[in-house]
Amino acid sequence: VQNFSLKQDLYGKKILITAGRTVEPIDPVRYITNHSTGKMGFALAKNAVARGGKVILVAGPTDLKIETGATLIQVQTTAQMDEVVEHYFSEMDIVIMAAAVSDYRVEKPAAQKIKKHSEKMSLSLIKNPDILLKLGTKKQKQLLVGFAAETQHLLSNATKKMKEKNVDLLVANDVSRSDIGFGSDQNEVTFLQPDKKPRLIKKTSKEEIAEKIFDMLLSK
Ligand code: CTP
Ligand code: CA
Repeated sequence: VQNFSLKQDLYGKKILITAGRTVEPIDPVRYITNHSTGKMGFALAKNAVARGGKVILVAGPTDLKIETGATLIQVQTTAQMDEVVEHYFSEMDIVIMAAAVSDYRVEKPAAQKIKKHSEKMSLSLIKNPDILLKLGTKKQKQLLVGFAAETQHLLSNATKKMKEKNVDLLVANDVSRSDIGFGSDQNEVTFLQPDKKPRLIKKTSKEEIAEKIFDMLLSK
């Protein structure tokens, strides 16, 4: 077992990490969300704390336990996550958007439980802000990390996101595989960086991937 705490190479660095899923209400008893459990974001927070970082972990609903040493800020909706991230961004050295953010929200969540009526019904959804895209336009000293969840054309889709969102590192995930990713303790990812060749990180623990992400950022 590796002892990550020996290194103090993130000492004093201010690091904000988002984790898990956001949840968008439909009515008081129903919501829209996705399969993200927060394991990758929590592994990042744990690794950063062990290496001496000052960590803010902004997390959607999750069953995971907070690592002592990180400040946990819990959110539900994308709008709430956006507000927290915007609030802290200017003071941060590193921001990692590991959360699976809901791209849309219900336009007008119902105040009361929606009753069933006709055979067909539809919900009107409106686009949420793209938090990472906004950070990419205003970053200064910050190192910015994004994730990409793809079910097809992994490298081309993820490379597009790396460029559009102006990130220093994009971690590309194939979420079509059931042996890795959502809910799993393991993942296989590809690191994409501007003007560098893609680097495949073979299937390994999320702890190990977290370690490699910070190693990569510190080498910049
Ligand atoms: N992201 C974000 N705000 C959003 C949507 C995504 O900050 N409203 C961030 C995610 O946290 C992730 C990155 O953007 O770091 C890519 O998310 P992903 O869902 O893979 O890509 P999208 O840009 O949302 O595009 P699409 O879902 O259409 O593939
Ligand atoms: Ca998305």
